[in-house]
This record gives sequence, structure tokens and C-alpha cells, in this order.
Amino acid sequence: MNQNITRRDFIKLMGLGAGTLTLSACGLIPPNSRFAVPTTAPVILTPLASVPVSLAVDLTAGRATLPIFSGAETPVWRYQPSVREGSAESIQELSGSYLGPIFRVKTGQRIQVRLKNDLPDPTIIHWHGLLIPEEMDGHPRYAIAPGASYEYDFQVINRAGMYWFHPHPHQLTAPQVYYGLAGLFIVSDDEEIALGLPAGEYDLPLVIQDRTFDSQNEMVYLANGMMDSMIGFLGDTILVNGAPNASMDVRASAYRLRLLNGSNSRIYKLAWQDGTPLTAIATDGGLLEKPVTRDYITLAPGERVELWADFSGRTSGSEMSLVSLPFSGFDNGGGMMMGGGSSLPNGASFDILILKIGEKGEDVIPLPSRLSTIERHDVKDAVNQNNPRSFTLAMQGMVHTINNRLFEMDSVARDEIVRLGDLEIWEFANLEGGGGGMGMGMMNMEMPHPMHIHGVQFQVLSRQLTQGSESTYQGLSGGFVDDGWKDTVLIMPGEKVQVLARFENYAGTFLYHCHNLEHEDAGMMRNYKVQG
Ligand code: C2O
Ligand code: CU
Ligand code: CU
Repeated sequence: MNQNITRRDFIKLMGLGAGTLTLSACGLIPPNSRFAVPTTAPVILTPLASVPVSLAVDLTAGRATLPIFSGAETPVWRYQPSVREGSAESIQELSGSYLGPIFRVKTGQRIQVRLKNDLPDPTIIHWHGLLIPEEMDGHPRYAIAPGASYEYDFQVINRAGMYWFHPHPHQLTAPQVYYGLAGLFIVSDDEEIALGLPAGEYDLPLVIQDRTFDSQNEMVYLANGMMDSMIGFLGDTILVNGAPNASMDVRASAYRLRLLNGSNSRIYKLAWQDGTPLTAIATDGGLLEKPVTRDYITLAPGERVELWADFSGRTSGSEMSLVSLPFSGFDNGGGMMMGGGSSLPNGASFDILILKIGEKGEDVIPLPSRLSTIERHDVKDAVNQNNPRSFTLAMQGMVHTINNRLFEMDSVARDEIVRLGDLEIWEFANLEGGGGGMGMGMMNMEMPHPMHIHGVQFQVLSRQLTQGSESTYQGLSGGFVDDGWKDTVLIMPGEKVQVLARFENYAGTFLYHCHNLEHEDAGMMRNYKVQG
């Protein structure tokens, strides 16, 4: 924000009472001042003995209370599974967590899910990253009322990878995810199984989120009203698989760590605290062609990354921690006010997970130097090679827009129609940063936007910083892993990113949007249509 605007002017400008801004300060207790219930048994992905051809599951979205801290239980929203047909091990619950369940399926399997809505609000499930028909994809117009049910029936055609699912009702996605509704959808295939990657107790899914709890141990959402919605919600407590202060016992062996950033808006700069480089083996859409190493990895909301981590040389009794490194936060007009009320702004550093190394485990099978084959799209095959389909991300008034538009339930603009089968360049240009942000009058926000496209997995073609601050950019750009298949890509302030996507699976109307869930709910989402 322009330095000349004082806090009081700003409050006037926004038409907010002073009370709105102080709300966050009262009622909340400082982070880490209470004990987490010791949860830390790792979630183990039991290998599937046999894979049934089909799986039918009831998922009831409802309310529950859970002991997350000592003292009062925390009211949460969660999916309660029950397997109707198929093997029970295909559905794994995360015991004691609001998250889950975890689907364990193989490419080619038929999946039937009956969603039952026991919530006080409409809801619908979106299967993030899966290539499925429109009616299965959880568009908000399919949302069901309290008491109603929705039948999903689709075939898994994705390659092996860690996908996920979460609610997608109109303007209610962020709070429903926040209160707990999300689960993992892990697909394996023969190519992946043949690699012999760490499995069973050496294969750990880790969902990273942030929440704020009040003194009654209840989750607090959007205490700062409009501010939180413009910037995105930032909680002051980091949770892994639904547990705060997370630590896990592991053996001195090699692990596959499957990470999902399931946070509403927080970006993580993941690293090992002792500076050991990270080895990434997969991203959103599954295995990379070969492992890549990074000093740190940037993980934006909705994105996944899988790490191969070898603890075999570590001594029993030692610890290893996965942290988020500090980075220069975004210039949203001075942390205190526009950083939301969060005492943990984007860019703060903190521990995510402590791994306590125990006895020697299974012998380590060296990580294969070749993991899979990725057919690279050729930009020369793109139908709009000379004229990329471009999407401008900008701030207008109090909301973030895409090509000057907000979400409309049923409309598709002329420039949002693609032909079934076409390979296209989509270009996202983030004008919110540097000198280019139009913003709110004199204000100039720096805002990153993790853009997600339903219905496809894409490849990142290019990134270009066109305006804005090099230093903000360079604080995170060394951690992008763009080598494989993606369905969500972070567009930094002032950055232009081109991706290549082939719209080859299903005709129909799908969504593309910012996966900062507060931005999405405020309208930073649009339909696009694949015309058959
Ligand atoms: Cu994970 Cu439309 O979102
Ligand atoms: Cu999605
Ligand atoms: Cu956004």
C-alpha cells in the first residue's frame, strides 16, 4: 500500500469500523500455548493386496467433534465413509482427524460414491485433478441441499498420483474446507508399482494446513472480514493431517512423503531444517520423469509434491524437521493491517513436522534415476501457438478478477470456449504486483494467485516476470517444480505463466479459478466450455 495512507485513512477508505480490525486481537490465545493431543501415529498407506474392479462408497458430510487439543473438543465438519461394495482397504480413515478418508485406487477402476449431505448448508464434492465428466466434477450448480444425496459414478483414467477431493458449493468452498472437509484420492498404476518406491509404512501422506483456534478450541474463520477475504485466510497454527505441533516416529530408512497444501491461502517454502536438499519425485499429476532436487520447494494451495527422503544415514534418536523457510511476504500494505489479523503472515518461518528417527528400517532400495515417461506437449501443435488464450488477473475494487470478470454460475464468455481435442496455450498474467496493479485507488497489492484448471492436467511452458519486485519473486521461484504434470500453478505478483493443455477427455462445462479459496469464493473463478 502507498506509504502515505495511514491506518485510519485506510479504515475509512474501506468503510470498516475500527472494531472489525481489532476483532482478531481479542478472544484468541497465542499459538503454541496449549498442548496438542498426541496424535502422531503416522498415517500408513497399507499396500493393496488385491484391487477390486469397482468400489462403491457412501460418504456422509456431517458435523462431529474431535479432541485436537487438551480440554474442549473441537467442532469440525468431516466426511464419514462406509464401503458398500469392494475392498474395505480401498478406503482408509485418518483416525482422530477431521480429514479423510483416503481413497486408494488403481487406474482403470470404476468408482461409485454416494454423497449424503448432513450439513446445514448445500455442498458438492469436486475431485481435484481427476479427469472425469462434467456431472461428476462438482460444479457448484450440482450442489445438493441439506438432507439430499448425489451419486458419483466414474472411471479413473488418471495416471498414478496423489489427487484430492473437497467441497465446491457456490461461495462456500473456503469455509467448508476450513472446517475440515477434504480427503486424498491416491491412484496407483502398474508403471508406478514396478518402480518399487517405498511403500506400506514407508509411504506417508502429509496434508499441510493452517487454522486459528479460539480459547474454546473452536476454529475461527475470517475474523477480519473483508481483509481476510481479499488476502486469503491465514491461520496461526500449522497442522499436519489435522494435528497441530505434529511429530512422527520414523525409521532410519527411505520414505515416500506425499505432501498436499490443503490450506485456504497459505504458501509454504518447504525445506529440511538442516539444509539437506529436497528430492522431488512427483507433482500434482504424478511421477516426474526423473527425480529433481531443490534447496526448497514452493507449495501453493491445491498443489501436491512427493518427496523421496532417505533417513538411513541418520542416527537413532536424532530429529529431522520439515520447515517453512522465511520469504519476503507480499506487500499488501503492511503486515499488521492487510496481513489479515494473522500473527503468522505469509512468509513467516515455522516448523511443519518433526520426524523422530528410530531404529534402522527396511534396506534402502536406491531411487531409480528414471521414474516415468512424460510425453511433452509440443508448442508447435498448439492451435493458438501465435495467439495464446490469455487471462489477466487483477484487483478491481475489493475483489480479484479474471479478464475483468467474476464468477457467473451459468455463463461462458466467447473467449472461454475451447474445442474438444485441441492443444492450447493458456497464459495467466498477474497484474497484481510491482507498478502494474490497478488495485483500490492508490493502493497497490502484491498478490500471488495459484491458478487451477478443472478437467485437465497441463504442462508449464514458460514463466516470465514482467513487472514487480525481483526480490519477492526470487524468494520463491527457486522452489517451483514445473517438470511434470500440473493442475495448479502459482502465478507470482507481476508474473506471466504459460501452460500447455490438451482438452481431450470430455466435452462439457468446467471451471478454472484461483485456489486461494477466499479469492475463489469471492468470485475469482470462471466457467470454460469444451465443445465436442
Ligand atoms: Cu481444488 Cu475447483 O478445486
Ligand atoms: Cu479441481
Ligand atoms: Cu487468487
